[in-house]
Amino acid sequence: MNPITRQEFLQRTAMAGAAVLLSSLESLALTTPDKKLRVALIGCGSVSNRYIPHLQTSPLIEIVSLCDIKYDRALGQNKQYNVNAATYPHIDKMLAGVPFDLMVTTTDMQEHEHLNRQALMAGKHVWSEKPMANTYDAGRALYGLAKSKKLRIWGAPAVVNSPQFAFMSKTIQEGKLGKLSCAHAHYGHLGPTWSAFFYEKGGGSLPDLGVYNLATLTGLLGPAKSVIAMTSIVTPERTVDDKGKIKVEAEDNAHVVMYHGNGVLSHVQCGFNYFDPYGHEGKGQNSHTITVWGRDGNMGLVGYDWAPFGVDLATSYTEPPVRYVEDPGTYVWQQGATVISESLVNHVEPRINAEHALHVLEVIEAARASSATGKKIMLKSKFPWPLF
Ligand SMILES: NC(=O)c1ccc[n+]([C@@H]2O[C@H](COP(=O)([O-])OP(=O)(O)OC[C@H]3O[C@@H](n4cnc5c(N)ncnc54)[C@H](O)[C@@H]3O)[C@@H](O)[C@H]2O)c1
Repeated sequence: MNPITRQEFLQRTAMAGAAVLLSSLESLALTTPDKKLRVALIGCGSVSNRYIPHLQTSPLIEIVSLCDIKYDRALGQNKQYNVNAATYPHIDKMLAGVPFDLMVTTTDMQEHEHLNRQALMAGKHVWSEKPMANTYDAGRALYGLAKSKKLRIWGAPAVVNSPQFAFMSKTIQEGKLGKLSCAHAHYGHLGPTWSAFFYEKGGGSLPDLGVYNLATLTGLLGPAKSVIAMTSIVTPERTVDDKGKIKVEAEDNAHVVMYHGNGVLSHVQCGFNYFDPYGHEGKGQNSHTITVWGRDGNMGLVGYDWAPFGVDLATSYTEPPVRYVEDPGTYVWQQGATVISESLVNHVEPRINAEHALHVLEVIEAARASSATGKKIMLKSKFPWPLF
């Protein structure tokens, strides 16, 4: 194959679409002299302190632009991490500025949808922090827009990339737990203290915290067919760094039950009012936060699903429980944007799947609808499953 320029490669990538991207152009990266993906990151707040350094670890990625409506933050992160990027105070300016291939969206949750749409309209691939959009229908429309423009969009979280998730998924698929009955997951802390958006309409503990557990359990057990839930607000007023005293509008406490078919039920609880000695960072958590039960065995994920330390497996044929996959390998929760960027360059379909993120978004919306109406909510979305 003749070498081509990176621009030609990216143009072809966009024209080829996902399926073709993975087949006919597979060896292209090896022959492309300058094959770095140009990334623009929008939203230079707390999580950018995890994203920027991780993106910088990849030889296939160059961060070319940083943007924040609080412009000093874009300038500050550029300096702090020696990015040497162009900086912008608004997406319009960034889209009109230095050319790039992928936008990484790490702004307030409520802003993702319109920013992601604008990037897709401008011909950019997108990695979005959760949620990809404010509603399932809007997210589905973004996915359709991306497809129609031969672009890709993906959404956090990246929990399916951990070796512990892989082990649990394979254990279930190999039937080692026997006939499955149920699973439980939980994640909570006392809530972020820096920004109001976590507590405003469109925020909440479900899209911020429960989203990890929902992605893990649907990833392990398959798409949910229906949902029943209760949500509440435990702390109606909070004080946050950016707005002082605020009224909490989105749920800060949630219990969600999903039906996955074949009799299998799962339960997720999450909230911003959990005393957790491990705090927001979760460092050192080593009890089970995810448990799956079958008639022949059960297993528990040690640590949070976004920062796991191992899996305890007990079966009717190997008692007592044995701990597996204590080594996280290269997995860290902030790797999503890096992984999908490298997959674009290398033409390998990543395990993270946009339809999975959309399904989780539909579950979150259904949970809120169920809590508001007292009814079970049927779901329409699916995603390619099993993942292994
Ligand atoms: N902070 C974490 O540890 C963490 C971890 C995982 C995921 N997340 C997710 O990351 C996202 C951001 O969270 P955060 O904690 O970094 O919030 P943050 O408030 O610290 O940062 C958000 C930044 O986005 C900027 N912003 C808002 N609207 C914008 C717009 N229209 N254009 C450009 N910039 C804009 C804000 O000025 C702010 O600097 C959320 O979706 C959150 O759920 C955060």
